Amino acid sequence: MSEQFSRSTTVAVAQPPQESAADALSAAVDRAVLAPSLHNSQPWRFTVHADRLDVRADRTRHLRTIDPSGRELVQSVGAALFNARVALAARGWAVDVQRRPSPADPDLLAVLQLVDGPPDPGLAVLDALVARRRTNRRTFDATVPTDAELRSFTAAAVAEGAVLIPVLTGEQHRLVARLTQGADAEQRADPAYLAELARWTNRAPAEGDGIVAAAVPHVDGSARDDVPMRNFDTRGDASLPPSSGLGTERTLLVLGTRSDDEEAWLRSGEALQHVLLEITRAGWAASPLTQSVELPVTRIELRAGLTWDTWPQTILRIGHAGPTGAPPRRQRADVVSG
Ligand SMILES: Cc1cc2nc3c(=O)[nH]c(=O)nc-3n(C[C@H](O)[C@H](O)[C@H](O)COP(=O)(O)O)c2cc1C
Repeated sequence: MSEQFSRSTTVAVAQPPQESAADALSAAVDRAVLAPSLHNSQPWRFTVHADRLDVRADRTRHLRTIDPSGRELVQSVGAALFNARVALAARGWAVDVQRRPSPADPDLLAVLQLVDGPPDPGLAVLDALVARRRTNRRTFDATVPTDAELRSFTAAAVAEGAVLIPVLTGEQHRLVARLTQGADAEQRADPAYLAELARWTNRAPAEGDGIVAAAVPHVDGSARDDVPMRNFDTRGDASLPPSSGLGTERTLLVLGTRSDDEEAWLRSGEALQHVLLEITRAGWAASPLTQSVELPVTRIELRAGLTWDTWPQTILRIGHAGPTGAPPRRQRADVVSG
């Protein structure tokens, strides 16, 4: 068993807070920045106040070609917000979360206000998993989660106001495969998409962001994946094996929300991170495959054929695989003030 999954999950037991509110909020930022984000763009900023944390969108880091509406930017911030909620619960703090509290300040996506009361024990136990979770783009083996594991992943999405729909039948799998292939081909035919991808895969190490070659497959044409991973190998120097290991028997999950406004996007990011931490807790690896939810036409087709009354927000593939290294993160001073 790999190092990544052999360590037992430390169950955090929330104690009455022994630290100042400002110290707890500051520690929550350290956890928040470990969240997944589109192309590792880390489009967030935080302001630590005496008794609250402001979580903001950093629209200077908006990937306008792949994500014109900013949906995935807001999702990424939602994932960071979830990590902060988890960290505060683990440190013994109860919080009131206000989402998009000020129409006059649309970049303020959430405020975490410390309040009296017990912390959420369900969140506290996830804290030890935040630093272990990774987007894993290695070849996955053919094992599938048990029904009980799938139920726990689904419950994590529901807890955040979202739904998680397993792709169960061969017909559903073929639909996801066809739509992902079509969206992927359309994106790769767009010079602006390729230019944006190149910008986010060839970052100077000092930037502390973007996708590094060590975290992505080397695409040499040998993979015949029916649900293709995004080709981040823009310079031919990537190092992971080319195949995702996907086939009709592999596990795909679609995360969806009933509405499709900015609050739904934020909640879908919280749900994504909750699901990913449960997947990590259960010893599985995962990676998002989001091409088909990025193009309006394929997204609508996915909804019509699979998710019906919910908007697809993310697709995840799950499997077992060896560990993958920690991706870069920006300097703390660049993302936090106060
Ligand atoms: C909204 C969103 C969309 C993503 N889409 C993809 C994707 O299509 N393919 C992929 O390999 N990773 C995808 N990712 C994963 C990010 O690339 C990853 O989170 C980022 O590189 C940081 O790495 P980490 O998750 O290991 O911390 C996505 C993440 C988010 C939040």
